[in-house]
Order: sequence, then C-alpha cells, then structure tokens
Amino acid sequence: MGAQRVAERFTELYGAAPQGVWAAPGRVNLIGEHTDYNDGFVMPFALPHQVVAAVSRRDDGVLRLHSADVEGGVVELAPTALAPGGDAEWTAYPAGVVWALREAGHAVAGADIHLSSTVPTGAGLSSSAALEVVVALALNDLYGLGLRRWQLARLCQRAENLYVGAPTGIMDQTASACCEPGHALFLDTRDLSQHQIPFDLAAGGLRLLVVDTQVKHAHSGGEYGKRRAGCEKGAALLGVDALRDVPYDGLDAALAGLGDEEEVRRLVRHVVTEDQRVERVVGLLRSGEVRAIGPVLTEGHVSLRDDFRISCPELDLVVDTALAAGALGARMTGGGFGGSAIVLTEVTEVDTLTKAIEEAFAGAGFTTPRVFEAVPSAGAHRLD
Ligand code: GLA
Repeated sequence: MGAQRVAERFTELYGAAPQGVWAAPGRVNLIGEHTDYNDGFVMPFALPHQVVAAVSRRDDGVLRLHSADVEGGVVELAPTALAPGGDAEWTAYPAGVVWALREAGHAVAGADIHLSSTVPTGAGLSSSAALEVVVALALNDLYGLGLRRWQLARLCQRAENLYVGAPTGIMDQTASACCEPGHALFLDTRDLSQHQIPFDLAAGGLRLLVVDTQVKHAHSGGEYGKRRAGCEKGAALLGVDALRDVPYDGLDAALAGLGDEEEVRRLVRHVVTEDQRVERVVGLLRSGEVRAIGPVLTEGHVSLRDDFRISCPELDLVVDTALAAGALGARMTGGGFGGSAIVLTEVTEVDTLTKAIEEAFAGAGFTTPRVFEAVPSAGAHRLD
C-alpha cells in the first residue's frame, strides 16, 4: 500500500498527520538455512513485499497500535504493560521492539503506529521481521537514537526471542534492515559482516519463483527449537563454540567423533555442508555464473529434507515437480515445516513450470499454491 494511503488512514485513526512513514521488506533466503544460530553464513535478499508504518512520537509512554490487515480497532498499551511472554497477538512484535529498545537503555517514550503489510504471513517470508524492523527504524529516526542497521536488527531479534518467545536467529531482521536492490546479502552471522553480492537474474534470462505452499508455519512451536538445541548439543560434543567452527574438510572426522548420536550427526552434516554451499554460491555469483547455482540450491533442499528433516510433502512436491519440468534448481526456503520454496528457472519456462506445479498440487489434493517472481529489492527505508 502506498505511503500516502497509510498516512491518510493514520490521520483518520489518530486525528493528526503522522510524523513520518517507513517501509521494511520481507525476504527470501537464497541459500544458508538454519546456519544463522550456528554462527554460519546466510544469503537472503529482500522482496518487494513490505510492511509500511505511519508513526508519530508520544511523550506519555503510551503505545497505540493499529493494523490495516487485522480485524479490530486501535490497541492501546500503557507504559507498564510491556512484558515478555504476555502477548500472543500480532501486537507482540511492535510492542517487543519498544520493550527491547527501552531494555537496551534507549529513551523511547510512546508512539502512535498504523501498519499495512503486503508480506504474506506464515509463508516463510519474514513478515514478522519486517514488522519489527519497520517499527525499530521509525523509532530510531523519530527519537534520534542513531543506531546502525545491524544494531536495529539485533534489537529486533531480541524482541522476537525474548518478548515473542521464538528462538530464531539473526538472518531475517538483518535482511529486512540491510538488503539492497539488485543484490543478495552475504552475511556472516558470527560478526554480522556483510557483502552485497550482485544478483541480476534478468540479465541472464533467468527468474526466481517463490512458491508459497499455503502451509502455515510458526517458529515459536517446538520443532525449530529442537533443531537449534540439537545443533548446540553437536557443538558441545565436538568441543567448538558453534557448528560454524567445524571445517568442511574436517567433516568426516567430526561425524565419526559423534559416536551413536545419529540425530545430532545429521544436524551437524546439514549445517557444515550448508555453510559450504553458501560459499560456493557466493563464488559462482561473483564470477557471473548465475545458472550454475541451480544444482547447489537443490543440494540444499535434499540436505534440509533428509538430514535436517524440516521439509513437508508440499515443499517436496514443488521441488520435485519443478526439477522434472526443467527448473535449474529448487529448494525450500526459510524455517521449514511449510511456507515457501524457491525455483530458479529460465524466463522462457516460467509459465510451464507454474502450470506444472499448480497441476501437481491439484492432483495431490493440496491447496492451490501462490506463485510469484522475486526481484531483489530494497531494505528498510523512510518513505515520507
Ligand atoms: C527462520 C528464522 C531464521 C533462520 C531461518 C532458517 O526464518 O527466523 O533466523 O533460522 O528460519 O534458516
């Protein structure tokens, strides 16, 4: 939704024009899945879908929230009302950001906020990170906090981990805060160092499709946390700080050292090979070999399906159908257990592939998936 419409709605709701309008995007992850909480590498890019927020400061500490996408009126939270774990609604994300800023000692009083989003929810496209980041950026500007993008991402992650209660890594918030148009973000999640890698699909006659399976997922549920705990156990058994520290060429020895811990062995194998896949994709993109990343993406899917075990029949059907119909590569993206897959394809094959996937879903009795082309877009920014 345009900045002007969001500002007008704000004015209707709160009786005065907003002091500014900001936007933050959702993301897809090209490669590097479940590596971020292992201090590893990730490579997301921003989607054109975004959360737009019209915001004004309030000096009385009160937080007023409204969303165009949720039924119901303005939610008003008193300064003392912000407490971790107490809110299971969408309001926990913006409230969590205010809480995290205050906890970190930043003088943030209150705010009036109206939000409108085009990021599909529960689709593995980071609608919640976009919501957190747009609020953090707006408050950073309005309160003159002077925080850098990576610092905002860290605070948003704290909001998600501690206030909302989802034990996620740092990828999604950093993607939303730091991505640039036409680029994928190569991020080292250990020190948050970043490289913008040109990712020009159109120049190579290629497209990247996002296939939202419509299978909803949530990371505050147990499976994400179990994988994370399993990875931490692996690191402890191997005597390293994080699985990032297991070198790819030392993987066989590391796996052998895990004794009868079969489940941990599979998790470790995924993480270590996935970090190496990110480095391979970075190398290929840097040398202009965009087509050649296809098989690496597919390898990533196989690893997530068989070793990390977080795929589902719908995601596997997208990947299998796309590959059988001539895609260059395909994999699930995001946290798993539903959500979206990505498909790398020649532009000439987009219609054929889309039809093949839709027919396969109809044949399997699954809900019709939503298919769209992803163009690497801008990270969070002020609109007005
Ligand atoms: C979710 C989390 C991220 C990351 C991915 C898996 O999107 O929010 O931190 O762990 O899953 O790569």
